Amino acid sequence: MKITICRDEHEFDVAAAWRIIAQMLEKPDAVIGLSTGQTTKNMHAIVSDIYRQYPFDTSRVTLFNVDELTNLPRSYAGCCYTMIAEQIARPLGIPDERFLMPPTLSDDFERECRDFQNALEARGGIDLQMLGLGYNGHIGINQPGTPFGSETWVSPMDPIFEARVRRETGVGPDYPLGGLTLGIRTIMHARRIILIAKGAHKAEMVRQMLRGPVTEDIPASVLQLHPNCEFLLDAEAASAL
Ligand code: GLP
Repeated sequence: MKITICRDEHEFDVAAAWRIIAQMLEKPDAVIGLSTGQTTKNMHAIVSDIYRQYPFDTSRVTLFNVDELTNLPRSYAGCCYTMIAEQIARPLGIPDERFLMPPTLSDDFERECRDFQNALEARGGIDLQMLGLGYNGHIGINQPGTPFGSETWVSPMDPIFEARVRRETGVGPDYPLGGLTLGIRTIMHARRIILIAKGAHKAEMVRQMLRGPVTEDIPASVLQLHPNCEFLLDAEAASAL
């Protein structure tokens, strides 16, 4: 298990950004999985800034996001497609053919899950997956209790996040919302994973993920078993270790 602790948030954001860039430089046709949220915003902006100032070859890179909302149009600003497109895919000049994202609207999400996973496999599988850490230990949208054997699926959303989405979109409680996410098994097949967490509010969950038992109650704890996973933390997120 490799744990890297950065001095502060800025050092963390820069370190995370350079790991993404280094992956593209080392393997120009890399398949790189991203994740959305507060943790990744600055790091995406830094990658985009560096690219603007010192362009590097992205002509064969494939990007995707680990998860996506279902049953909302992409025009909703909280959709992962929209966030990743704006934060990093467009700034890096990645066209839609190399920006793999499942649709947010479909009449057959089981098929969309299969197609998404097959599309990643057709490109040789995931070279690097950047993963945020949910407050309850979720990774992607795999909530506590998700079987470690899960493949790409539509999971119930994190309840706190779901409440926010409903507030922002005005959709009522009877309208189904979900999260299409790589499953735990799919994530574990990535050749390399970087789990990123910053801030004091993540400290207790970071401790449970790294020092607690490997259990489906804390989905991120499974990463203890991945042969090539780095845990990149800022000092605050590491403060309970
Ligand atoms: C959401 C996303 C996850 C992300 C997590 C952490 O649940 N679906 O992929 O890792 O939030 O978010 P934040 O970085 O805002 O704490």
